[in-house]
Amino acid sequence: MSAIHPPTTRLWWKQPLDRVEGTWIAIAFFWCLIMFFMMPYWHVTGKQNLSNEAYRVSPEAHGKKAQEMVDKYTVRTESDQKIPVVHPPAGSDVYLVARLWAWWPILELEKGKSYRLHLSAMDYMHGFSLQPSNINLQVIPGYDMVVTVTPNQEGTYSIVCNEYCGIGHHTMVNRLYVVNK
Ligand code: CUA
Repeated sequence: MSAIHPPTTRLWWKQPLDRVEGTWIAIAFFWCLIMFFMMPYWHVTGKQNLSNEAYRVSPEAHGKKAQEMVDKYTVRTESDQKIPVVHPPAGSDVYLVARLWAWWPILELEKGKSYRLHLSAMDYMHGFSLQPSNINLQVIPGYDMVVTVTPNQEGTYSIVCNEYCGIGHHTMVNRLYVVNK
C-alpha cells in the first residue's frame, strides 16, 4: 500500500498495529495527559495565571462606572491630553476602559493592597498586557472581566494592547503606577 495506489484490501485499517506505531501513540497520549494536567496544576502553583470572572456589562454602563471613579479620585493629569491619574481607595473596585486606541484612565494603585480590576471595551476586542509582568487578558465589549489584583512591587508598569485592533493598535498603550504608601 502507498499513498498513490489504492489499498489492496478494503479493510486496510484492520491490520495489526505495528509496535513502533503503537509506541508513538502511547507516547503522544501520555504527553497529552501531562499537558492537560499541567493546566490546572500551573494555575494553582504557577503564581502567574489570574483567575478572572466575567459578567455582562454594556459599554455605556462600564464607561459610566469608570467616569464616576475618575470624577471622585483623580489626583493629577498627565500629558497634553490631560489624561487623569486616578488613585482609588485601597480595596476598591477600579475600572479601566479600552477603546480605539487608548486605555483610560491611568490607575495608581498601592503596593500590597487588593483591588477588583474591571476591564471592558467600548468598541472592539482589545488585549490587556501588563508589562513587565506576565499578565494577559482579553478585553471584550459587552463583558466585564474582573480580576482581583494585589500589586507586590512598586513602579511604573506599561499596559500594551496585544490584540490587533486596527490602524492605531500600536499606539494603544498606557501606564499603571504602583506606589508604596
Ligand atoms: Cu486595542 Cu490593539
